[in-house]
Amino acid sequence: MNESELMLKLRNLKVIFPSGQGIIKAVEGINLDIEKGKCVALVGESGCGKSVTSLAIMRLLNSPPAIVKVDELKLDQEELKDYSDGKMQELRGRTLSMIFQDAMTALNPVMTIGKQIDEIYIRHNHLSKKEARAETIRALDLVGVPEAKSRANSFPHQLSGGLRQRVLIAMAFACMPKLIIADEPTTALDVTIQAQVLNVLSDMQKKHQVSLLLITHDLSVVANMADTIYVMYSGKIVEKADKRDLFLSPHHPYTEGLLGSVPKLSDTQHHFVQIPDSVPHPMFKPTGCYFHPRCRYKTKKCEERMPPLVKIDENCEVRCWHPLHIKGGGSQ
Ligand SMILES: Nc1ncnc2c1ncn2[C@@H]1O[C@H](COP(=O)(O)OP(=O)(O)OP(=O)(O)O)[C@@H](O)[C@H]1O
Ligand SMILES: [Mg+2]
Repeated sequence: MNESELMLKLRNLKVIFPSGQGIIKAVEGINLDIEKGKCVALVGESGCGKSVTSLAIMRLLNSPPAIVKVDELKLDQEELKDYSDGKMQELRGRTLSMIFQDAMTALNPVMTIGKQIDEIYIRHNHLSKKEARAETIRALDLVGVPEAKSRANSFPHQLSGGLRQRVLIAMAFACMPKLIIADEPTTALDVTIQAQVLNVLSDMQKKHQVSLLLITHDLSVVANMADTIYVMYSGKIVEKADKRDLFLSPHHPYTEGLLGSVPKLSDTQHHFVQIPDSVPHPMFKPTGCYFHPRCRYKTKKCEERMPPLVKIDENCEVRCWHPLHIKGGGSQ
């Protein structure tokens, strides 16, 4: 892909946390591309390194203890890895925005939500207080906050969880960033509210043609939103594919397992292919393929050697010695 089409180009990101007991390799050399105006999902179970990846991109990891190494970290072709902390801080909230899982900690509890959004417009767009408030009301209206004008005078604790998350979305889009990273933006919400908030996020992303990195452990969340999906396991990317291909014919047994835990409407028998056990402790990763102790297709080779990430076609890569659904081969 032409580099000018990429909003984010990440190459060989490694994050380790040294500790008295040993070294935690949280992220082991991952590559990630996000095209302009597209939504990319990073999916995997708890502890596989999703948040550490996003915090490393935003330069929000405390170092020490974290040791972060990266070959390329380009935002709209601009190399960020040598940016000073001050320059990075300037970038965050203007060019790079983040939507966190917990709105209650992301919002200032002693300031009205209107004032918090006004400040973004005043700071970034140099608007007067009055102009900023008009923009704030428009933004709240756009993300579906009812009676936006009067709600702007509410404090965060006076709003429901769903409304607070909508406020965070309004804030993330307020300065029209180039890239928004949303880390589990709806997991704290009820299922029905989750769907509404995701729809708002998806509509906003498409309307404003912003690039979005959506992080979740739940594949059903990305089914309607993502263009491309990266599946992460124990610090490594194990599969990358277009959404449609990944849902129709997953190549990695881990992806198949994640999909198996999503109930299908067509599945009247309610078959679930559950993945046994859980992600290995990051200090005691197994030999060979990290997934092999949980894999029903494993062979001796899988126990001994880590498979490389191999390109299967234009938009698909898989890290497996026996990939599934490969035309003319594989272990099906
Ligand atoms: N500050 C830290 N010090 C030591 N280890 C850490 C630190 N932060 C994260 N880790 C470890 O790095 C690994 C990846 O953590 P991360 O938070 O990225 O997982 P995740 O995929 O976001 O999981 P979840 O779905 O639960 O949010 C975990 O094993 C975690 O224990
Ligand atoms: Mg996380």
